Amino acid sequence: MSSEVSYPPGPRGLPVIGNTVDLSRDIFAFFEELRDEYSRVASYQVFGTDACMVAHPDAIQQVLLDDHEAYEKGEVLTRNLADAMGEGLFVTDGDQWQDQRTQVQPAFYRNRLNTYVPEMRATAEETVEKWRDGAVVDVNERMAETTMDVLGRTLFGVDVTENPVVSEASDAILTRFDTSRFWSFLPDSLPTPTNRRYRRKLDALQTFVDELAQQRREQQPENRGDDLLSILVGFVEASDLTQEELRDNMVTFLFAGHETTALGLTYTLLCLAQHPDEQAKLQTEVDAVCDGAVTAEDLPELERTEHVIDEALRLYPPVYMFFREATRDVELQGYKIPAGTTLVLPQWAVHRDPAWWDDPEAFRPDRFVGDVDRPEYAYFPFGGGPRHCIGMRFARMEMKTVLATILREYTFNLVSDPDPDLIASTNLKPDEPIEIKLHERDDAEG
Ligand code: HEM
Repeated sequence: MSSEVSYPPGPRGLPVIGNTVDLSRDIFAFFEELRDEYSRVASYQVFGTDACMVAHPDAIQQVLLDDHEAYEKGEVLTRNLADAMGEGLFVTDGDQWQDQRTQVQPAFYRNRLNTYVPEMRATAEETVEKWRDGAVVDVNERMAETTMDVLGRTLFGVDVTENPVVSEASDAILTRFDTSRFWSFLPDSLPTPTNRRYRRKLDALQTFVDELAQQRREQQPENRGDDLLSILVGFVEASDLTQEELRDNMVTFLFAGHETTALGLTYTLLCLAQHPDEQAKLQTEVDAVCDGAVTAEDLPELERTEHVIDEALRLYPPVYMFFREATRDVELQGYKIPAGTTLVLPQWAVHRDPAWWDDPEAFRPDRFVGDVDRPEYAYFPFGGGPRHCIGMRFARMEMKTVLATILREYTFNLVSDPDPDLIASTNLKPDEPIEIKLHERDDAEG
């Protein structure tokens, strides 16, 4: 490492608590200010601990891709999530993570995911069938139900509307780790109401997964269906995965895949509700591509829909930041960062950085059309490098299927706040309902 490198600049904040107050007041503004007033690799302090924001695309690429082996998920995350998913993909590091990723990856190949599209479509249709011309819909609530239902069917092969154990556990886990609430910083061992509920619902979910896995094992492989649970059961039988790894990965998929996808859909609908011209374009596309209900073969052809989703995820990344810990001294953008430092990679501040995005606050799906002239890691809603989101394709397929199903039947306009307050919860959540008013299409097919 060269002798000229220095520690990244940044505000020092108050003694002991450092920048904790600024951070918790408005975390989004805090990272944008660090970016603009200090540097795209900048330091800050939380309760006496040094942390670094990494908001330069080249440095993000270095952390996630080029030098990824120099970074781990970090002790806090590993400790917090140990009980729920300590042996799963999201939390493990090193060889254990690598082995699991290699094992589980085929379950997320396109051909396999294509078989889930009919379930995704059926679920979306059930959602839309309950809607009526002129009705006002709370988008976030409806999308949370829809994505829960899809995960229930495709992961576990169960109908969560009839068996609440999965949705209740998902809710309890997200509440327990809601980083906008003080309780998320309390240790699991404290018998707070949130902790007790979390423990109870997690136990119930883990027992449920074990029992379901046992039932699958008792069936002949050809009768098991092709949900993710059956695939993982096959891996356990081949001794490629332990039962504990199977269980923790089922919880992981639920935790990582439910709210994120619901929010991706919510923000896409928010953007579309404010841009009737884009809605019309997507309807034209859906009508031209889909001959009747949407199929797996249709999805790659829904290109404009893809760009609209891309742009919504740029403006409102459901995962608005995530962490790494340096396992050795590293150099990023000419700054020296000591081993053990917590790094935060803030999608929010990078996706809205005027250095890479012209008029960054504007909704413009055309940014994603054709060759783009910006660094690759100026956009990373699904992370990057070998640890990029394994569910990315699943989420994109689901979002397209749900959007196409809605757009075939309805146009809609926004009746709630066009600029809703957002909270830095586990994911980027609206702090108020996002509501659309439905108008049945006169020309609706089918
Ligand atoms: C719009 C929806 C989604 C978004 C925005 C999203 C975002 C992300 C991001 C940013 C990461 C990287 C975290 C890190 O590197 O620390 C990640 C990892 C992960 N996601 Fe997603 N995700 C979504 C949907 C899903 C779905 C549907 C599933 C599963 C069915 C899923 C499962 C996972 C898993 C297992 C990991 C950890 C991968 C590993 O470390 O190897 N995600 N996701």
